[in-house]
Amino acid sequence: MKSAALSAAILLAFGSTADAQIAKGATKFLGNITHQSKVRTDFATYWNQITAENECKWEVVEPSRDNMNWSGCQAAYDAAKTGGFPFRFHTLIWGSQVPGWLASLSTAEQLAEIEEWMDLAAARFPDVAMIDVVNEAVTGHAPFPHIAALGGAGTSGHEWVIESFRMARKRWPKAKLVLNDYNNLRWNVDDFIAIAKKVKAADPKIIDAIGCQAHDLSATTGQYTNPEMTAGALTTVLKKLNDQVGLPIYITELDLSYESDAAQEAAYKALFPIMWESPYVAGVTIWGYVYGQTWNQAQYSGLIKNGADRPAFTWLKQYVASKPNVTNPLPLTPVSVTPRQASIGSAKEPRLELSKDGNRVEAVFERDGGAVRTDVSGKR
Ligand code: XIL
Repeated sequence: MKSAALSAAILLAFGSTADAQIAKGATKFLGNITHQSKVRTDFATYWNQITAENECKWEVVEPSRDNMNWSGCQAAYDAAKTGGFPFRFHTLIWGSQVPGWLASLSTAEQLAEIEEWMDLAAARFPDVAMIDVVNEAVTGHAPFPHIAALGGAGTSGHEWVIESFRMARKRWPKAKLVLNDYNNLRWNVDDFIAIAKKVKAADPKIIDAIGCQAHDLSATTGQYTNPEMTAGALTTVLKKLNDQVGLPIYITELDLSYESDAAQEAAYKALFPIMWESPYVAGVTIWGYVYGQTWNQAQYSGLIKNGADRPAFTWLKQYVASKPNVTNPLPLTPVSVTPRQASIGSAKEPRLELSKDGNRVEAVFERDGGAVRTDVSGKR
């Protein structure tokens, strides 16, 4: 039997299990999301990438005009910093959870607000690893409702998507910029491919990857009644996306929702390895992990039920541990950038800074008598 001293020595040598994430040291990340607007204390026990489930969405951050609440988004970002793993900003331009107050503004004012929203996010999170720049642009999904502000359909039919990416790239030269959507592994694959190709054709430097939410893989209970996708069909569509778009793929919101433990385990065993081992997939994010508390369209997707691992989770842990060296088309290196406010301007020239309350971008002019600050939010 181990003595207490020996146990303590082992703990010192190998670290506590608190940060022994499932994919730690692997070539791809295995991430998850915040839970009820918070980072669970056990998050870094399992996951080495984080996305805020709702807290970085525009409506949540700016529920009324210029009334910013970054706290939840910041907490997810801070957890990534503390844990030393990547943060995905979800999302900049989307038709759901978009501020209602935008609708009453003129097109020019809407554009100024979009500029300000991106400026504030970039000033706060200059070194974010990945950004879902545009979410759910496919017609019939949830395209941004105020596309005229971004150039509308234009000749390509999706000028507003392209412009969103151009604007994001200006602010985040190094982040992986992602076009994210659902039903792009089945049902609406070609519609999605067409948009991704247009962005890449407009400028290959403004888009780094595509995101497949992967809510569409299966569901026999809950609101979805899709038959489970076969492993063969999933393999085929990942290759098709790669062949036709030619960009790495992130699985961004995976949920395999089954009330039955056995059915969930079988689905994980059949489908997860296809994504994890795909040479086209750069990382996988699961959309929640606490049974009964995941989003309402995948209510049985949780992996921990009543404090105990479900069989799918037990399997997932040992599977990922056994496959640490899988091909990654887009390995992430920590993004290191000088914050914009520190990099722009010398002492005598204006520089950009985030206001104290974090709600505005200000130009700061150093004068003999002290600094003069001017609100330049939304101005370029
Ligand atoms: C969902 C959240 O999980 C819910 O809590 C919220 O009520 C609605 O949004 N596609 C997306 C995610 O890109 O942001 C959605 O998240 C799920 C579908």
